[in-house]
Amino acid sequence: MEETVIVKPEELHHLIQKKLTAAGLSEKHADIVAEHLVFADASGIHSHGAVRVDYYAERIAKGGMNRTPEITFEETGPSSGIVHGQNGVGQVVVLEATNYAIEMAKKSGIAAVGVRQTSHSGALSYYVRKAAQENLLALSMCQSDPMVVPFGGKENYFGTNPIAFAAPRKNGAPLVFDMATTVQAWGKILDARSKNKNIPDNWAVDASGKPTTNPHHVHGLLPISGPKGFGLMMMADILSGMLLGLPFGKHVSSMYNDLTKGRDLGQFILLIDPQRFTDLEQFKESIETMVTELHEIPPAEGFQQVYYPGEINQLNYEKYMKNGIPIEKNIYAYLLSDTVHFDQYSGADAFAQSGTGK
Ligand code: NAI
Repeated sequence: MEETVIVKPEELHHLIQKKLTAAGLSEKHADIVAEHLVFADASGIHSHGAVRVDYYAERIAKGGMNRTPEITFEETGPSSGIVHGQNGVGQVVVLEATNYAIEMAKKSGIAAVGVRQTSHSGALSYYVRKAAQENLLALSMCQSDPMVVPFGGKENYFGTNPIAFAAPRKNGAPLVFDMATTVQAWGKILDARSKNKNIPDNWAVDASGKPTTNPHHVHGLLPISGPKGFGLMMMADILSGMLLGLPFGKHVSSMYNDLTKGRDLGQFILLIDPQRFTDLEQFKESIETMVTELHEIPPAEGFQQVYYPGEINQLNYEKYMKNGIPIEKNIYAYLLSDTVHFDQYSGADAFAQSGTGK
């Protein structure tokens, strides 16, 4: 991260909400997005925090995110349903879908909910965490624009398709694990570009499909662990795109191409009530035991301790919500300014430079 300023969560929330309402979003929807982005930055997921406001503001202002969607829930069975998002802002649509799914899973034990026509939904931890706070097990995944070369190929096909999982635990916040299925998220390449720093050769390939260490030459990202990440991103796309009759793979709409149109993206949410399988308190106790046992494992050379998967984000969240959140100086300056957006994304390809005012 570049030079940062420490911003109180309430101030960050207020500035984001103000910018999005200036772009034309309702106070209510802007409030939901602000809460989500503050959560992401506070968790240390800076690739999906305030850095996105400029892009969202441009898309909202240009009509590519529906400011007044009528979000509806079509129940297709006792444990299944489809949320029609009408290309509303992703954080609003997917939150509402998660709320429908929570209600359904509490009633029927399981909820498999697909979201049709949403926009970019941000950090998936946000949604699965909400479900786990209601004592449910949660899995969520989504498709994103094609930026990843398939294992063995040199042209992009799938997106960075993230997968997030959460479980309730006895003490403390839910256990949440959330990852893109690429070695690194696109945001990390942007970070290296802005610092003119080389990247490791297992992150990305250039236009000829060869591994590159130059962040400016990146033309495709690499899946985590070769064919295994490749398989996971395929799974996420089938469940969140194809299953809902939406474009899949290389046909998924681009983030930046046409900011006047909705992206028609999909998301998949699967919630399970542990009480249908085991005793809830015992289950939560077992998660606690697992966490303790993981913490007791001696660290390998070069490590200070074993963290449970996702713990680092939770530790950030606790610290930053209390002490203030580090935000890049140029992002903070943009949030304070009168500029609604920098008009820099429209027509850009997926590998365009992004960031605020850069
Ligand atoms: P990351 O690589 O920073 O972390 C992945 C996971 O590994 C996290 O749960 C993290 O807590 C855990 N982790 C990291 N270091 C660890 C350690 N030393 N010990 C134990 N656990 C550790 O995350 P990534 O892959 O960069 O994803 C960032 C965000 O991007 C996610 O929130 C994801 O949902 C979001 N995303 C959203 C997309 C969308 O279209 N909505 C597309 C792609 C990503």
